[in-house]
Amino acid sequence: MDRVPEPDLMDDDAQARAYAEANFDEAHQNVITLFQQRWPGRQITGRVLDLGCGPADISIRFARAFPDCEVDGVDGADEMLAYGIRAVAAAGLSKRIELRNCYLPDKELEQQQFDAVISNSLLHHLKDPMTLWQTIRACARQGNDRRYL
Ligand SMILES: C[S@@+](CC[C@H](N)C(=O)[O-])C[C@H]1O[C@@H](n2cnc3c(N)ncnc32)[C@H](O)[C@@H]1O
Repeated sequence: MDRVPEPDLMDDDAQARAYAEANFDEAHQNVITLFQQRWPGRQITGRVLDLGCGPADISIRFARAFPDCEVDGVDGADEMLAYGIRAVAAAGLSKRIELRNCYLPDKELEQQQFDAVISNSLLHHLKDPMTLWQTIRACARQGNDRRYL
C-alpha cells in the first residue's frame, strides 16, 4: 500500500484559522478521557510534550485535566502556534503551557526529557512516520511507563 501523507505543515493562515475555529470538542475531549481510562487514577506531573500541538486545544485540555503538569507544545507552523498562543492566554494557562516552533524531527528536542508525550493527528502529516515514534522514544523519560495509548 502506498502511503500518501498530507502536506506536513499547516502553515497557511486560512487553513490554520479554519482548523483553530473548527469544533473538535468531542474528539479532543475523548483523547483526555481515553488517556485517563488507560492510566486510571494516574496523576501526571512534571513536563508533558505535545507533538504537533497545532492551536493547542489538546494541550489546554490536558493541562486542565492534570493540574500538576506543565505542557510544552511544539509545532512547525507559526500560523498554528499564533492561534494556540491566543487560546492558551484566553484559558489563563500561559504560565503552564509553552508553545514553540519546532519542525520534527529535531535533534535538539530529542535531547530533552519529558514525563509524558502526547500527540494527536500528527502521524498522517509526517513524510516519514518513524519520526513520531523515534521522537517519542527519545523524549519519554527513562523509567516511565512506555505503554502507548
Ligand atoms: C491536524 S493538526 C493537529 C493539531 C493538534 N495536535 C490537534 O489535534 O488539534 C497537525 C499539526 O501538525 C503540524 N506538523 C505537521 N508536520 C510537522 C512536523 N514535521 N513538525 C512539526 N509540526 C508538524 C502541523 O503544522 C499541524 O499544526
